[in-house]
Amino acid sequence: MRIEKTLSQFLDEHPRLKYTFFGGKGGVGKTVMAGAAAVGFARRGRRTLLASTNPVHSLSGMLEQDVFGAPTPVEGVPNLWAYEIDTRETIEKSKQEIREKIDWFLKFAEIRTKADEFIESATMNPAFEESAMFENMIDIMFKDEYDVYVFDTAPTANARRLLGMSSVYSLWVNKMMQSREEARSLREMLSYSKKKEEKDPLMEYLLNFRERMQHAKELLTDPELTAFFFVTLPEALPIAVIRRFINWFHDFGIPVGGVVVNMVIDKERIGADAAEFVLNRVAMQDEYMEVIEQEFDGLVRSIVPLFDTEVKGVPMLIETAERMFA
Ligand SMILES: Nc1ncnc2c1ncn2[C@@H]1O[C@H](COP(=O)(O)OP(=O)(O)OP(=O)(O)O)[C@@H](O)[C@H]1O
Ligand SMILES: [Mg+2]
Repeated sequence: MRIEKTLSQFLDEHPRLKYTFFGGKGGVGKTVMAGAAAVGFARRGRRTLLASTNPVHSLSGMLEQDVFGAPTPVEGVPNLWAYEIDTRETIEKSKQEIREKIDWFLKFAEIRTKADEFIESATMNPAFEESAMFENMIDIMFKDEYDVYVFDTAPTANARRLLGMSSVYSLWVNKMMQSREEARSLREMLSYSKKKEEKDPLMEYLLNFRERMQHAKELLTDPELTAFFFVTLPEALPIAVIRRFINWFHDFGIPVGGVVVNMVIDKERIGADAAEFVLNRVAMQDEYMEVIEQEFDGLVRSIVPLFDTEVKGVPMLIETAERMFA
C-alpha cells in the first residue's frame, strides 16, 4: 500500500500539534501506538506526557516501570513522562466535590432532605465516572506543563462520547444557572432583611465549569492543536469500529489525524514452506489492506508490522516508534 502522507509528514505539517489521542477497538494496540508516538515526539525534542485513563494498569506494564499516580520520567527516553491516572482517586475526589456543592445547595434552598440521596443519584452511574475522568484529562491539559500530550483512551469511554458530553454539559449548566438566577431573585424579593446575598459557591462553580468546558472544546476542535489517531488491524471488526469513529468525529468537527494499521505480517519473512494457516492469514490481511486503502483514502499514516513478541520494555517501544515513524 502506498502511504500518501506519513506520520512524520503529518507532524511536519502540524508543528503546533499538542493534544493527540489514540482510539480503536479493544486489543488492537492503542496503548502501544500511543507509547510509540510519545517516544517519537520526545525524540523530536518535545517535552511529552503519555497519559492513560485506562483503569487497567497498561502503561506501567508496557514500560516495565511504575508510572502509576503521577507523571514519571520514562527511563531511557529523555523528554518523555508517563502517567497512569488513578481512576478511583479521581472519581472519589469528584464525588467529594459534588457532595459539598449539594450540601450547600440544600442548605441554601432550605430543603430538609438527606443529601445522601441526591449524591447517590448524581454519582452512581457510569456517565459520572466518565465525566470525572474527562474533567481530570482537561485539568492535565490546562496545566500546560508539556509541549505534547498523548492520551491513550480506553475503548469503552470512547472519546467521541466524552467530547459530545461537553455540549451536553454546556446546555445543562445554562439551564442550572437560569434556575439558580430565578431562585435567587425570588429569595431577594421575599427577604425582609436588606442584607446582601451571600456568596453563591454553586453559581461560581457552574460558571467556572462552563468556561472550562468551552475552553476544552476550543482546544479539542482546533486542527492545528489536536489530532485523533485511529488504530486498526487488517481485519473486518477493527475496521468497522474505526469507520464508525471517523464518521462520528467528522460530524462533531473533531480533527482526525489519521489511521495506523498495526500487526501487519511482513511477507518478506515468510518462506515458501510456511504453514498453510500463515499463508491464509497473509491472504486475508492482503484483502483487508485493500479495503483500508479504499475506505481510508489518504488517511493512513503508518503501517506497523506484527512483531515476534508483544511490545514490552523501552527498547522495544523505541523500535516500534522507528517503524511507526518510518
Ligand atoms: N505490532 C505488534 N506486534 C506484536 N505485538 C503487538 C503489536 N502491537 C501491539 N502488540 C501487543 O498486543 C497486545 C495489545 O496491545 P495494546 O495493549 O496496545 O492494545 P490496546 O488496544 O491498548 O488494548 P485495550 O483495548 O485492552 O486497551 C499487547 O500485548 C501488545 O504488546
Ligand atoms: Mg490499552
